[in-house]
Amino acid sequence: MAVKTQKQAIRSRRRRPPSRPRNTLNDLTGKQWIRRTKSWLVCDSKRYHRNRNTELHPARYPEELVIEFVEFFTKRGQWVLDPFVGSGATLVASDETGRRAVGIEISRKYAEMSGERLAEIGADGCCVVTGNAARVDDPEFWTDSANGELTDIARTHEGLPIFDFIMTSPPYWNMLRNSRGGVESTHKKRAKKGLDTFYSDECEDLGNISDYEDFIEALGGIFDRCAGVLRDKGYLVVVAQNVRVPEGKVRPLAWDLQQRISQTLSFQGERIWCQDSKKLGIWGYPTVFVPNYHHHYCLIFQKK
Ligand SMILES: C[S@@+](CC[C@H](N)C(=O)[O-])C[C@H]1O[C@@H](n2cnc3c(N)ncnc32)[C@H](O)[C@@H]1O
Repeated sequence: MAVKTQKQAIRSRRRRPPSRPRNTLNDLTGKQWIRRTKSWLVCDSKRYHRNRNTELHPARYPEELVIEFVEFFTKRGQWVLDPFVGSGATLVASDETGRRAVGIEISRKYAEMSGERLAEIGADGCCVVTGNAARVDDPEFWTDSANGELTDIARTHEGLPIFDFIMTSPPYWNMLRNSRGGVESTHKKRAKKGLDTFYSDECEDLGNISDYEDFIEALGGIFDRCAGVLRDKGYLVVVAQNVRVPEGKVRPLAWDLQQRISQTLSFQGERIWCQDSKKLGIWGYPTVFVPNYHHHYCLIFQKK
C-alpha cells in the first residue's frame, strides 16, 4: 500500500466526509470507529510534531494524538477547547481536521508561539487567548481577553461560548522544576541548549504549586469550570501521567485526577498513549526499581 505523505494525509482529512445520519458523534465509518476504541495507541512525538520551532516549549504532545481524539469526539465544523494550550498542538490538529478551536494559555510567550503557528497555516477558525484557565466560565474573561476574536462562536449561553469537545494536557504538577540528579537527563540537556525547562514564573501557573494536594484541587477546580462551557453529552479528554518525585515517592497524578474530575463529569474510561522511541533513563540501576514512564493516560469524561 502506498504510504501517504503528511500533506496528503492533511488534504484527505480536510475533504468533506459522506454524511452518516445515524452517527451523532463523529464522521467516522464503523471500521474507523472500532479501531479508535482500542485502549492503547503508540504515538511518538518526534515523528509526528509538525513544527520544530515549538521545541522551546518543554512539554508538548503530538498533533497526531490530538487528531485521534478530535476526529472521534467531534464532527467537522464543531468547536474544540484546550484550556492549557501551550505550543498550540490542539489548535493545529483541529484546523487540519476541519474543526474550529480556542486555546487558553497563561504564558504570553507560548500564547504568541501558538498564534504564530495559526498564522503560518492560515487557520482562520482557531484562536488563542492569553489568560488563566481558571476564568474559563467567567463571561468577562471572554469579552476582556479574546479581543472580539470569538464573536464568531456559533452557540453561546449567558455570555459563555459552548464547546463540543475539550482536549488538553495540564502541567504535571511541579515536575518540570524537579530535575533528577546523577545522569544527563532531558531536563539538563534542554537547560544546556538554552531551551525552557519550566513554563513560567506566573503565580497562576499551575506548574508552580508545590503542594501536591493543593495542585490536584486547583486543577480539578479548573475542570469543574470547563464543564460549564462544554455542551451536554460533550466529552473531555485529559492527558496526564503518574509521576515519581526525585526522592523516590510515586504520586499517582493521573489516577488522583481521574477521581477529582469524576466529582463533576462522568468517567468513561482511558486510552493509554505509549511512547515507543523515547530514550530510556538509567535511574535506579543497579540497586532499585525506578520506572521509565513512557506512557500517559488519556482520561475520557462525558458531561451527562
Ligand atoms: C503540558 S503543557 C501543554 C502543552 C500542549 N499540550 C502542547 O502540546 O504544547 C501545559 C501548559 O499549561 C500552561 N498553564 C499553566 N497554568 C495555566 C493556567 N492557570 N491557565 C492557562 N494555562 C496554564 C503552561 O504555561 C503550559 O504551557
